Amino acid sequence: MARMNDPSESAISLIRTARRIVAFSGAGISTEAGIPDFRSPRGVYSNSDAVEWLSASGFRRDPAAFYRASMDLFSTIARAEPTDAHRLLVRLEEMGKVEAVVTQNIDGLHAAAGSSKVYELHGTWRTGRCSECGAFHNMLPLYDRILQGGTDAPACCLCSAPVRPDIVLFEELLPVEAWQGAVEAVGRCDLMLVLGSSLVVYPAAELPMMAVSAGAKLVIVNLEETSYDRAAAAVVHGRLGEFARAALAALSPAPPAPPAS
Ligand code: APR
Ligand code: ZN
Repeated sequence: MARMNDPSESAISLIRTARRIVAFSGAGISTEAGIPDFRSPRGVYSNSDAVEWLSASGFRRDPAAFYRASMDLFSTIARAEPTDAHRLLVRLEEMGKVEAVVTQNIDGLHAAAGSSKVYELHGTWRTGRCSECGAFHNMLPLYDRILQGGTDAPACCLCSAPVRPDIVLFEELLPVEAWQGAVEAVGRCDLMLVLGSSLVVYPAAELPMMAVSAGAKLVIVNLEETSYDRAAAAVVHGRLGEFARAALAALSPAPPAPPAS
């Protein structure tokens, strides 16, 4: 078990030799972009009724309460930039090593960083749909209207029912195509790279063991221990930014030697 003062060489050498990596990210990959995670001491769930407002029944009961409680998070996401860990996955994709990025995050930072195949298991904050007629809505202008006090809960442009973001709320199923894509990629990978997840929410948390059962190695980079650490070929407990910078340095080609003088 390597510590972060010397980013785990075994994790980096497993990444170096892997040919088909599936990266599996959680909220921990975006905390250094300023977006809180969920279960750390100052995470989203430190606000006790957060689970209530992040539920489908909570939204149906009181859409305005859903937006009151989630606009801080959405405004933070709107200002966030990809981190070095997001950039590490783009670099690995440029090296032809990435099968897919599977994320539990709704912040869109993997695509913003340049990852091209991203499965968003818990949906996205960017788009939404009418809770009645299902009409598609681009959520960004609607968030602006809420922030400017123009509305408490945006209404559908077709039927005036409340509009909701395309995020998977508690009591809801994962988007089928994202889940199927993720499971297929996991079945093909030779390395599952878990970045910043407590691995406690199912079915997403089944994926690392699916990868191991399919013969892949497991690498976990997370501040805290997870219940899957024992199944991992390498575990790095520490900050993802530090690990990503060390991995980027280790994986980047050495600068050409100066011409002999
Ligand atoms: N570097 C490394 N690890 C970090 C960092 C960091 N900078 N910041 C936080 N972490 C770790 C935390 O220690 C924690 O173990 O990331 C993990 C984040 O865990 P959670 O807050 O539980 O987030 P996540 O695993 O993504 O939750 C999964 O739960 O409620 C649902 O839909 C929600 O998608 C979310 C899902
Ligand atoms: Zn509608």
